[in-house]
Amino acid sequence: SAAEKGGWSSFMRKEVAEQPEAVANTVRGRIADEQVVIPELEALGDEELRAVRRITIVACGTASYAGLVAKYAIEQWARVPVEVELSHEFRYREPVIEQDTLVLSISQSGETMDTLMAVKYAREMGAKTVSVCNTQGATIPRESDAVVYTHAGPEVAVASTKAFVAQITALYLFGLHLARVRGTLTDGQLAAQLHELQAVPEKLASVLEESEKVAQLAHWMADTRSVLFLGRHVGYPIALEGALKLKELAYIHAEGFAAGELKHGPIALIEPGQPVFVVVPSPRHPNSLHPKVVSNIQEIRARGARVIAIAEAGDAAVLPFADEVIRIPLAAPLFEPLLAVVPLQVFAMELAQAKGLDVDQPRNLAKSVTVE
Ligand code: G6P
Repeated sequence: SAAEKGGWSSFMRKEVAEQPEAVANTVRGRIADEQVVIPELEALGDEELRAVRRITIVACGTASYAGLVAKYAIEQWARVPVEVELSHEFRYREPVIEQDTLVLSISQSGETMDTLMAVKYAREMGAKTVSVCNTQGATIPRESDAVVYTHAGPEVAVASTKAFVAQITALYLFGLHLARVRGTLTDGQLAAQLHELQAVPEKLASVLEESEKVAQLAHWMADTRSVLFLGRHVGYPIALEGALKLKELAYIHAEGFAAGELKHGPIALIEPGQPVFVVVPSPRHPNSLHPKVVSNIQEIRARGARVIAIAEAGDAAVLPFADEVIRIPLAAPLFEPLLAVVPLQVFAMELAQAKGLDVDQPRNLAKSVTVE
């Protein structure tokens, strides 16, 4: 009903707008004295977390892309290898799971059958299981040793938006907790990351304020038949998510690629007028991949691509090569995905709207897939 939408024309529009709150609520109460505090994790003692040799993340759809983002952060902070598997692939390939493997599931609904089966299998094999879930008391958290709830609030639109940023937030809190327990970050490094996380809601609000420009772009592009998305490092899963949103909401053929993979195949797709979104990393950090991504932009531009860059405020290097630049606020590299995903969600939503589609209930999709 209109009342449930709180004055918004769709749940999707409401949920996209609620993202600053989704992150703030997921962080709330979990940082004290520059330390992470997650009481729900106490079921898994520090001793057990120190003994973990490997993390396997299982999830489907958008949740799996939150997992891919978290892989970069958890490996960097806690120095433990992380693999990300689609739940349905994991379950049916006799995966190597041992007692020192931690299986981390991510599910907004907590009811996705493929993910539930993966968790049950992991437990049978003796692994420790942690669930990241948005729904209190759902089946997957009940079947897990511990749960870190995301507090995004109920997500009604079928395609996931605010749950995604809340999932990354919860996974980052988990990763920082793990880093403290394992002694892989100094107190100062930990505090710096926590400050970055606490600054995300305000930055998200300022990204949302730029939505009008993205909406206009989407309306101009309403006839587009195919869109490509490129990113690198944590920008790569964001490219995948941008493509997924466009397929789900606007029924447009879309693909996301790792920018470094361009020359190994996808560049053959570039022809004059092909729209390509590029998630550009910040140039301000040592070892930044910015120059490499800018050179990818030059390569596709030379072949006629229409480049839409998502770039940090003040990054002037992209200007000569981009047809459109969408700005995001300054953030440490691991926190950029939380901001860069928003214009891609808005683009897909607005384009669907321009085509007259139902953004809350796209054809053929279900919010929660409870069959295998
Ligand atoms: C369905 C939804 C997706 C979602 C996926 C995983 O396919 O349409 O938006 O990402 O399931 O759902 P979950 O509840 O496990 O996060």
